[in-house]
Amino acid sequence: MKRKIGAMLLTGLAVTGAGSASAAPANDLLSQDRILTIAHRGASGYAPEHTMAAYELAQLKLKADYIEIDLQMTKDGELIAMHDETVDRTTNGTGEVKSMTLAEIKQLDAGSDFNAANPTYAKAEYAGAEVPTLEEVLDRFGKGANYYIETKSPEVYPGMEEKLHETLKSHGLVGKRNHEGQVLVQSFSEASLQKMRKIDPEVPLVQLLEAKDMLLMTNERLDEIKSYAIGVGPSFKGVTAENARMVKEKGLLLHPYTVNEEPDMRRMLDLGVTGVFTNYVDRFEQVLKSYN
Ligand code: G3P
Ligand code: CA
Repeated sequence: MKRKIGAMLLTGLAVTGAGSASAAPANDLLSQDRILTIAHRGASGYAPEHTMAAYELAQLKLKADYIEIDLQMTKDGELIAMHDETVDRTTNGTGEVKSMTLAEIKQLDAGSDFNAANPTYAKAEYAGAEVPTLEEVLDRFGKGANYYIETKSPEVYPGMEEKLHETLKSHGLVGKRNHEGQVLVQSFSEASLQKMRKIDPEVPLVQLLEAKDMLLMTNERLDEIKSYAIGVGPSFKGVTAENARMVKEKGLLLHPYTVNEEPDMRRMLDLGVTGVFTNYVDRFEQVLKSYN
């Protein structure tokens, strides 16, 4: 079960004094006996999502097992950490990522909207935060973090999987020297996961699922998923005792998203999940401590 202790509640806590990066123990990340805390869009409950500040908080302070990174691709072919296909919601700009160059995206402020919407956690340093590239995130943490990377809208970005693999390779995060599970690639798109598998069959894959698809889960569908993926990442709203049991009986990992409230965290643990995506890493750690 969970092995980390000393998780802290973050309310009002200054995010300073980042220590050296350290990844979770490498040997059992993909074990059915491990319950993983996956920092959804970084520590996005406390810092602007998909900014370096959110990743630093998740990795260095809260010691999440994984930092989650959604990928979009710019007009000039750079992979950036962003959830939406447009920059509108999370920055002070407007427009589609696919129609903007990286230089244009680098001009944007990805932190001020968070400050305005979250006065409790707002920080002056978040104002003007840049949208990071995948390259920059991997440069920042290197092998000192574990990465749970989502190919977003892959049909919009031909070549996204190849670019992702190249970037991981140049950081030594795929291949023999890489520890098992240090990088997981997730997608709602089976086609994208199959592409990754073709490029490199060693990269572990996770099939994301909407709640409705999880609720309609069958053993046949799980067999299909198991032919290319090591786990499923369903909306937690679609996880039931029955389908959780089916997933686990197949030996697949079960990582529901996005589990932010304590009762939901407890319910997921009751159902035997092997990890959760959460905006509140520390909250889940506290629940885990009291649960064990
Ligand atoms: O990747 C798991 C979860 O993040 C999927 O939902 O929309 O937050 O990317 P979304
Ligand atoms: Ca995601």
